[in-house]
Amino acid sequence: MDRQADRIERLLAEMTLEEKVGQMWQANLGATTVDESFEALVAQGAVGSVINAIGREAVETLQRIATQRSRLGIPLLICRDVIHGFRTVFPLPLAQAAGFDEDLVARCAEAAAAEAAAAGIHMTFAPMLDIGRDPRWGRVAEGFGEDPVLAGRLGAAMVRGLQAGLGSARGGVAACIKHFAAYGAVEGGRDYAPAVCSRTDLFDVHLPPFRAAIEAGARCVMASFSEFEGVPATADPWLLGHVLREVLGFDGVVMSDWDAVRQLCVHGVAADEREAALLAIRAGIDIEMFGDAFHRHLPDLVRDGQVPESRIDESVRRILRLKEWLGLFEAPVPPPPSPPPPPLALCREAAERSFVLLRNEGDTLPLVRDGLQTVAVVGPLADAPREQLGTWIFDGDPALSVTPLAALREMLEPRGRVLFEPALQHSRASGIRDCEALRKCCHEADVVVLVLGEEAILSGEAHCRADITLPGSQDLLVRYARQQAQRLIGVVLAGRPLVLTPLLDQFDALLYAAHPGTMTGPALARILFGEAEPGGRLPASMPRAVGQIPINYARKNTGTPPLPETTVLMQDVPVGAGQDSFGMTSYHMDVGPDPAYPFGFGLGYGSVAYEALRLSSRRITAGQSLRIEVEVANRGKRATTEVVQLYIRDSVASCTRPVRELRDFARVHLAPGERRSLAFELDEAALAFCGRREQPVAEPGRFDLWVGPDATGGLHDWFELAG
Ligand code: BGC
Repeated sequence: MDRQADRIERLLAEMTLEEKVGQMWQANLGATTVDESFEALVAQGAVGSVINAIGREAVETLQRIATQRSRLGIPLLICRDVIHGFRTVFPLPLAQAAGFDEDLVARCAEAAAAEAAAAGIHMTFAPMLDIGRDPRWGRVAEGFGEDPVLAGRLGAAMVRGLQAGLGSARGGVAACIKHFAAYGAVEGGRDYAPAVCSRTDLFDVHLPPFRAAIEAGARCVMASFSEFEGVPATADPWLLGHVLREVLGFDGVVMSDWDAVRQLCVHGVAADEREAALLAIRAGIDIEMFGDAFHRHLPDLVRDGQVPESRIDESVRRILRLKEWLGLFEAPVPPPPSPPPPPLALCREAAERSFVLLRNEGDTLPLVRDGLQTVAVVGPLADAPREQLGTWIFDGDPALSVTPLAALREMLEPRGRVLFEPALQHSRASGIRDCEALRKCCHEADVVVLVLGEEAILSGEAHCRADITLPGSQDLLVRYARQQAQRLIGVVLAGRPLVLTPLLDQFDALLYAAHPGTMTGPALARILFGEAEPGGRLPASMPRAVGQIPINYARKNTGTPPLPETTVLMQDVPVGAGQDSFGMTSYHMDVGPDPAYPFGFGLGYGSVAYEALRLSSRRITAGQSLRIEVEVANRGKRATTEVVQLYIRDSVASCTRPVRELRDFARVHLAPGERRSLAFELDEAALAFCGRREQPVAEPGRFDLWVGPDATGGLHDWFELAG
């Protein structure tokens, strides 16, 4: 037995039942100071981890009490939500996903972890790996979008980044991946509602990102608030035991979400808190976050013979292993930091990658500085330091924010003029504040940059919207500005994909980003003037109308798929027409089958052509991999970075498969006129799916394949996997 395992066993042998259960309680401090009652709990060994100990001083006090005054001196695990940055705020995870760039996600996570570790934090509740296919759900902001492969690759990168600095002077934090499982499938996009999806979707859509993050080294998993097939995750031994531990092979710590054990009573599966504690421990919860049902009831449940003490030992062993792995016994608080300078350059780079150019009529963008005298910066998010940071920024510092207005002033003045008119007090405000001022401002400018979207508070946990159009009077503002402006550039910053369809043709150019964080302004200014390219591609489809949701690209074909030739829109149906099923295809007759913009879409400043798709073979056998080569050529006059995307379709399988599935992607930089070839490899694992099985299997047969700029276009070929 090694030294650490030895210490764990020695401690277990010495611990009282109450001390063991103490390790399983994550208590909420929610303060910068430690009051007497909390101090007493820690000194008794009644608490094993703490959430929301705010600031290094509180952490130091707590650890002193735990290590010096509790009987066994076991250090606390200090936890905090560091979702997309600590003091310096990186783009929302949804915005980072737009970069299709694992390395960037890892670097942002590493920088955030260094800032958090300096404040004494050991573990963060990130990444959120829930697949976001319903933009009404406020938590799509916290995830990596609609696709399991993208979310898995970026989630794994975030785990590696958060944990990279552990044990080094730079500092890192442990990742707690969440929310297990299928939380993204909440009914109607309403937070906390039951997850509505099939088992095949659970295994093929919702679990793969968890598998990837576990393989990347995640050692803690948070159970979801939601229920699957009628059983809340916190009480589900099948999900937390069989699926997580046996199917995915996870052997780390499983934690409940905030107060979720007590909520089992509210769900209606436990009669009281004692039964809730019993269900949760039987399901496999190791740590209860916030609530104290474990603390109050587990000792009695053991004494009454309802829970074997060996089950408690299992959890405590896992928790102590995590503490050992983090080195807490040697260094409960990291050495005094020389505070890292805010990583603003990285933050700006990440923000540049989060902007998606949706529309660029007549090459409106990039703007040319020469001859441009006056720029009007308008809108409720043009100068809103806090709002551009997005949701989950407990420790984020709005004073570090550089807004679009500030950045454009910095860039253009004093040679040029920057006018400013917020027009709406905030994103939800109704009625334009001062129409005359707005008219004048737009009228005088060579170009109007209209910064719209959602305030930070309109997305995130418990912040779901049924109508995901631009809130308040922004619609009016767009139409008004259109009438006055020579050129109108829309910039939408939001916590989710929005329905922008009725306004699209009002803009000469339109940029969209999920809240890009501290350096939103400089990134935007550089993009507008061509010093940087809008580097993002949509990580989730933009619906045309709310009623289309869910409208993800990886839909099923159905027996009667929508075809352009049989798609008839409502306005084209003659009044008084008789019964007609329009070729019987699957779509909404008022908006058609397609989203406004598909997954993977985003324009650049170059003009990229895809050519010469070549497969190494038409037929591969099990164990072989397929090499796919393609050439991309930049026919434009400006350098560009293309996000090359590889999709497959398993054309005939034992279960119906999506019409397309992302399997790989690469960012390729191309100088003007440059042509590059690049290669992907697909192995058998990339062709596998679960369907009604619990482990993925690649089934022989035909696969279609596309390489292109988004989930709809691209060059096509096919190959076979031999049986
Ligand atoms: C959320 C988690 C979060 C936790 C702690 C819960 O309400 O669902 O994602 O980590 O609170 O703040």
